[in-house]
Amino acid sequence: MKTGSNRFRHVGLMNKEEIVRVDYGSPQMVAALSLRKEVFVDEQGVPAGLEFDKDDQSATHLVTLVDGQVVGTLRITACGRAARIGRVAVRTAFRRAGIGSRLMERAARMISESGGREILLHAQLPIVDFYRDLGYSEEGDVSYEAGIPHVWMRKKLQSRQLW
Ligand SMILES: CC(C)(COP(=O)(O)OP(=O)(O)OC[C@H]1O[C@@H](n2cnc3c(N)ncnc32)[C@H](O)[C@@H]1OP(=O)(O)O)[C@@H](O)C(=O)NCCC(=O)NCCS
Repeated sequence: MKTGSNRFRHVGLMNKEEIVRVDYGSPQMVAALSLRKEVFVDEQGVPAGLEFDKDDQSATHLVTLVDGQVVGTLRITACGRAARIGRVAVRTAFRRAGIGSRLMERAARMISESGGREILLHAQLPIVDFYRDLGYSEEGDVSYEAGIPHVWMRKKLQSRQLW
């Protein structure tokens, strides 16, 4: 994971990056949903009716802010006894600067601190290496979501409580 010298490769040394939890319906959540539309609907062609679902209202949402602007987002939902991370997106101009990795690590820490033991995610096949680097392992066969090949990935967490 990138944490050091090239952290702000695209962002610039004077920019301030922070990761915050946002409430559904808040202005930052509106910006996060707009980023998801930009990335998944416009860039990847996922139908809006699949991208935005009822889980958004009950999910935990994290965003990355750079100088107060939402440039990254993900959501955490429950999946049986595991937590599921999904809708991971970073604005195009801010990619490959470690923003996605740091957002994923913050989500994992939050899940662990609230007693979670494992995280599941449904990874787009071309992005598997991004998640592997963060400690996730593939399991099962390739399946399709919104016409895009995906594989399930899992990461075990150190925790004494149950999710
Ligand atoms: C996937 C995504 C969130 C990664 O965010 P990011 O901030 O660019 O990721 P990072 O900079 O932390 O990447 C860390 C490492 O992960 C790997 N990685 C990142 N994006 C990758 C990609 N698109 N393909 C393959 N490997 C990738 C690389 O090893 C990268 O290190 P490097 O830049 O030194 O090569 C971002 O590319 C994105 O929003 N993509 C479109 C939406 C999407 O596909 N989401 C995932 C759905 S499962």
